[in-house]
Amino acid sequence: MTKSSAPGKIILFGEHAVVYGHPALAVPVTQVHADVEVLEASRPGIWIEAPDVDLQSELNTLPSDHPIASVVHNFLFISRLSPFPNLAIKIDSTIPVASGLGSGAAVTVALTRALSAHIHYSMTNEEVNAFAYEIEKLYHGTPSGIDNTVVTYTRPVYFVKGQPMETFRVGQPFTIVIGDTGISAPTKESVGDVRKLWEVAQQKWEDVFDQVGKIAEQARKTIENGKWEMLGELMNKNHSLLQEMTVSSPELDQLVQAARNAGALGSKLSGGGRGGNMMALVEPERAESVAFSLKEAGAKQTIVTQVL
Ligand code: PMV
Repeated sequence: MTKSSAPGKIILFGEHAVVYGHPALAVPVTQVHADVEVLEASRPGIWIEAPDVDLQSELNTLPSDHPIASVVHNFLFISRLSPFPNLAIKIDSTIPVASGLGSGAAVTVALTRALSAHIHYSMTNEEVNAFAYEIEKLYHGTPSGIDNTVVTYTRPVYFVKGQPMETFRVGQPFTIVIGDTGISAPTKESVGDVRKLWEVAQQKWEDVFDQVGKIAEQARKTIENGKWEMLGELMNKNHSLLQEMTVSSPELDQLVQAARNAGALGSKLSGGGRGGNMMALVEPERAESVAFSLKEAGAKQTIVTQVL
């Protein structure tokens, strides 16, 4: 039997602008993860069980564009395995779906690694990352590739689309509280809507993306220098620019405000927006009370995590 696990991720700064070539920062969230087990099946076929999404099927009975089936089909294709082995695949994930925590990328990466280990088809991190990016493209239209990169390497990542992956150093660990609106919001839609805005006023939006990119640059320096207290203001500014891009929502704004009222140093939505998660920078001793206030303001789930 082979097993593999991949963490969730959260974008600290730079979502959406990253699609247009500006930098973004993202970090792993190890409190949530996708776990995959692969073993030889006693009956013919490739059997997939994923209780979180109510799936228990043989590969060939699933539509070929099913997100999990397409990972397996594409993996079998690249590994040129023939004849196909009989497999039982079990997928468990604690990462909420379509909420900006990278659940799709985590399942893809864990599944790819478990399959490659099982059939002794060795893949480097670069190969896993490139494969996961191809899968992301099937479901997210024009993804930047940030999700698969952070999830593959499980390190804080400074990401610029199309450029080699760069990790960055965290001078002093800091604490963030993540709050889930519980509203699942497809990233593809918010990315598509931002593109429509950009298509009709390119200069205006390039300016906005540029400001976001500068915030991400400044945040990286601040984090490397261990001056994390100064990130709060940058988060607030980044959130305002995301509101301008129309990707926030009343529920996200409510949680962002509740966190600030409860003493967070700053807060913003994270990821595609319109739903999904927000995050707040907190002094460690305030983490639990900010998490409590987020719950009171409607958060369905909260995660306290340290960025190391
Ligand atoms: O919603 P998430 O966490 O998958 O993040 C999307 C981030 C975007 O910048 C909006 C899109 C992308 O592909 O980078």
